[in-house]
Amino acid sequence: MSIKDQTKKIKKDFLDRIESCSNYEDSQLIKNYFLGRKGKLSELYSMLQNLPSKDKASAGKEINDIKIFLSENIDVLISSFIEKKSDSNNKDFSLPGDPQALGSIHPITLVSEQIKDIFSKLGFSLAYGPEVDTEFYNFDALNIKDDHPARDMQDTFYVEPGVVLRTHTSNTQIHTMLKKDPPIKIIAPGRVYRNEDISVRSYCLFHQIEGLYIDKNVTFGDLKGLLNYFAKEFFGDNVKTRFRPSFFPFTEPSAEMDIYWGLESESDYRITKGTGWLEILGCGMVDPEVFKSVKIDSEKWTGYAFGMGIERMAMLKYGIHDIRLFYEGDIRVLRQFR
Ligand code: PHE
Repeated sequence: MSIKDQTKKIKKDFLDRIESCSNYEDSQLIKNYFLGRKGKLSELYSMLQNLPSKDKASAGKEINDIKIFLSENIDVLISSFIEKKSDSNNKDFSLPGDPQALGSIHPITLVSEQIKDIFSKLGFSLAYGPEVDTEFYNFDALNIKDDHPARDMQDTFYVEPGVVLRTHTSNTQIHTMLKKDPPIKIIAPGRVYRNEDISVRSYCLFHQIEGLYIDKNVTFGDLKGLLNYFAKEFFGDNVKTRFRPSFFPFTEPSAEMDIYWGLESESDYRITKGTGWLEILGCGMVDPEVFKSVKIDSEKWTGYAFGMGIERMAMLKYGIHDIRLFYEGDIRVLRQFR
């Protein structure tokens, strides 16, 4: 039989075998049968040696062609079984996995949760008010008169005449008092908006938590005690606080509470306006005018209210020196809160 006939026969035999081959082990046997040291191909090579020299060149080419054909096809067959193997139960579970990016809780969310936790342990429940509200809830019912500078377009974002983006969470005081009779004990977190110059200290939107407590015989002493307790819970026992007399149209008397921030670096000076103290909240006894507008009898009921800035709290607690960092979504800042 000529070499040409031999290679034809081998090719057919090979194709029959791979056709019926159904697993990895058999494919290895086929490879060995044709391409192994004593396989069909090496038989052909030994036949080559006995041929007359004039026939050697063409026969050699025949054998090389069949060799390439066999090895290419057997490799495809074998690798198809290797893929299947690793697809099923042949995984290596000791290999390191693909890294997964871990998210983090935004510091504003984190601090709101901490504040809510402290007040809810003291019996305050949660209330929510709208961010787009009428002037009645945001100003009128809070005894903020028509000519009050806070109503100025320079300070307040108007959606349409009579409708504003709320400038404080105090609107929720009114919503709550109109819906519910005293006693009332709520905190109201949320976003507020002011048309302010943007700087390290202020932004056009920020977050507040409002507190309102109405009952019989509530005193300013109760309010001070509550807020000092809160400051210790939030900042730790060593926190330094101070109350300064202040004015709000909806509380009388009114005060602001400051936290001692420090006065060492240049940025401490900038942030605290050279005082070392940073204002974190306004507070006071609910003004009888407010009770009048929500039809609560101020002879019978007294109450206090407070409103604090969450960004300020977060800046103090985590030493963040620029309020704008909260709104930029910079991953280098956020990942520090993981
Ligand atoms: N609404 C006031 C502010 O935004 C804070 C405040 C709330 C003051 C409740 C007194 C009582 O500045």
